[in-house]
Amino acid sequence: MWAILRPNSIAVVGASRDPSKIGSRILRNILSSGFQGVVYGVNPNASEVLGVRCYPSVLDVPGAVDLAVVAVPARFVPQVVEECGRKGVKAVAVISSGFKEVGNTDLEKEVVEIAKKHGIRILGPNIVGVWDTRTPINYSFIDANPLPGSVAFISQSGALMTSLLWWTRERGIGFSCLVSIGNRADVGEADLLALLREDPRTKVVAIYIEGLGLGEGRKFLDEALETSTVKPVIVLKAGRSEAAVEAIRSHTGSLAGSDEVYEAALKQARALRAASLRELFNWALALALSPEPGEGTAVILTHGGGAGVMAADVLNGMGVPLAPLPQDLQERLRKFMPPFGSARNPVDLTGMMTAESLRGALVEVLRDPRVGAVLVWAGQGAIPTPEELGEAVVSAVREVGLAKPLIVSITGGGECREVLKRLIQAGVPSYESPEDAASALAAVYRYYRRRGERKGEPARVEGDRARAKEILGRARAEGRVLLTPVESFEVARAYEIPVVEYAFAPDLETAAKAARVIGYPVALAVETPDVAHKTDVGGIALNIKSEEELRAAYAKVMEVFARNVPKARVFGVSVRKMMPRGFEAFVGARRDPVFGPVVSFGWGGVMVELVRDFSLRVAPLTQDDIEDMIEETKAGKVLKGYRGPPLDVEALKNIVASVASLMEDFEEISSVDANPIFVYEKGAVAVDVKVYLKA
Ligand code: ACO
Repeated sequence: MWAILRPNSIAVVGASRDPSKIGSRILRNILSSGFQGVVYGVNPNASEVLGVRCYPSVLDVPGAVDLAVVAVPARFVPQVVEECGRKGVKAVAVISSGFKEVGNTDLEKEVVEIAKKHGIRILGPNIVGVWDTRTPINYSFIDANPLPGSVAFISQSGALMTSLLWWTRERGIGFSCLVSIGNRADVGEADLLALLREDPRTKVVAIYIEGLGLGEGRKFLDEALETSTVKPVIVLKAGRSEAAVEAIRSHTGSLAGSDEVYEAALKQARALRAASLRELFNWALALALSPEPGEGTAVILTHGGGAGVMAADVLNGMGVPLAPLPQDLQERLRKFMPPFGSARNPVDLTGMMTAESLRGALVEVLRDPRVGAVLVWAGQGAIPTPEELGEAVVSAVREVGLAKPLIVSITGGGECREVLKRLIQAGVPSYESPEDAASALAAVYRYYRRRGERKGEPARVEGDRARAKEILGRARAEGRVLLTPVESFEVARAYEIPVVEYAFAPDLETAAKAARVIGYPVALAVETPDVAHKTDVGGIALNIKSEEELRAAYAKVMEVFARNVPKARVFGVSVRKMMPRGFEAFVGARRDPVFGPVVSFGWGGVMVELVRDFSLRVAPLTQDDIEDMIEETKAGKVLKGYRGPPLDVEALKNIVASVASLMEDFEEISSVDANPIFVYEKGAVAVDVKVYLKA
């Protein structure tokens, strides 16, 4: 895999004699990128291109080849990869388009199969290429190189990568590598995360994702989580995956659109999710250059109240509140401002600020251990000039060093651009707008706060697998996709989910007997595998207080249900104890085509769709994941005692763990929906459970 970034020998297959063709451009870029290794050309119609010796086939190349870069029409690629395999090449980057992206899925599969057979890793196809600034190498067809630096950028879109190369160069943002992964037929984001985690030159991994492949989500999540413990992973996720297409049957599942699943998975991976390209690179820059924030408050140092307030708003909104500075520090800062300035926080040096006073105040806050991070905003005015502002910052940094994050914003005309670039080169992340600077600083805080969090103990419930298997097997044998209420309760119980006391009754007399045992009041529900939401069709009677009422209710439920859904099978009824109302929560799960089992928790009951208060996580879960799920919701606040006594959160957490484990253990379950669950001060009880099987 490392050969993709750091080859020693490289063969360009399709090294064209025509300088305008891609194969020729790639060869030229490799030669001019300062690559120190051996380069070969492969072209049956040429013996030499750009001074590089060419061979008819990779098989004819005399020396070893670490990496083959392929730029021949798509239809020839399988044969080229086969020859690479026979030659012993272990990494192949396929630049060529004309595969899955235009519907040629079979051709792409063929290439991957040939590669697998030979133990080759394929990058692409349909890529613009790769830049690695350490090797150094540029084997793309773009004749420009990024600035060297410590951000690794992985992108599914080649065009985006190319345009960003110029955009970031102008701003002074440097890269360890840029990897275009195109159709990602073999090497994907997860593989590269594992690789870049080990790369000391890469300090931040930035990824642009359109969608992960089916079933790949968990691997990506695990690699991103592992990487996040040593360096930040920032993800821009655009578009919608196939996940949204999956028919979602249960109520709770229907809340979980695919983007929400990505959002949850990225949180779980402790990755930062950027909402735009601008955020992606602004954050990457700040994280690449900044050390960990210190203990004390963040400080905004400015000469304009407005920008200070705006920056404070952004910081606050992203969870970085500002605290007033200690009195003695305020006293020292007052030396650098007129009497009408403010030394609280934001520190406002006012319109009287000079380059000298900015420098002096900056030295104070950089030096004080009670300041965790510093954000400087200055606008272009008459005095000082942007150059003088930049100089003041650089000079303060030279004096004190950068042991805490320092982020600068200078807003104004074109002259500011150059100053910002120079600041970045001096190691200070710098931006035009104060909001961008504040958002970048907040991202630094976010990363370091989450990095410190534990990954957590696994939250597993070892259920009675045999019992659950038996029930699920029976339903499957009958070709059903929905378990009856009683079957669903049984499966839930097998996984230690506390359910309401119930009994199955095939007829009225058995129902009456069961009610006597359970004790009134009871509820009746038609036992059917054909209707999920029985209330809508009159299949449920609640709060039955006596046998007389039970007999009447039984007759009515059977009659109305049969009238409304005449084709539904009826096995009898379930008699359930009427439970006192508790706080209504739900726990559900569904199988996402990308991430696998996704578990949800939230505010339950009939208002679930209206309230839309829920959180999601990808199973397997850890205890910390479950804690986060509860924390994220309003329901969680109620459970922990909002204007009332705290409720049994632990009981609910156990149900979340049970549902997750059930989904993990049984591939054939497509979704589970326990709603409502009554949560009491002591205990929690699922009053209704629905288990669906894959069609
Ligand atoms: N082995 C070695 N060389 C071969 C082979 C072979 N099997 N077959 C052909 N060649 C040689 C040809 O002789 C030719 O060399 P010559 O010009 O000296 O005669 C050279 O390889 C190129 O072959 P052509 O048939 O001329 O192909 P062309 O260069 O027109 O196109 C390419 C090949 C560039 C791979 C094209 O098919 C393609 O896929 N273009 C799109 C690439 C792309 O956009 N990738 C995604 C980027 S991501 C983004 O969004 C920007």
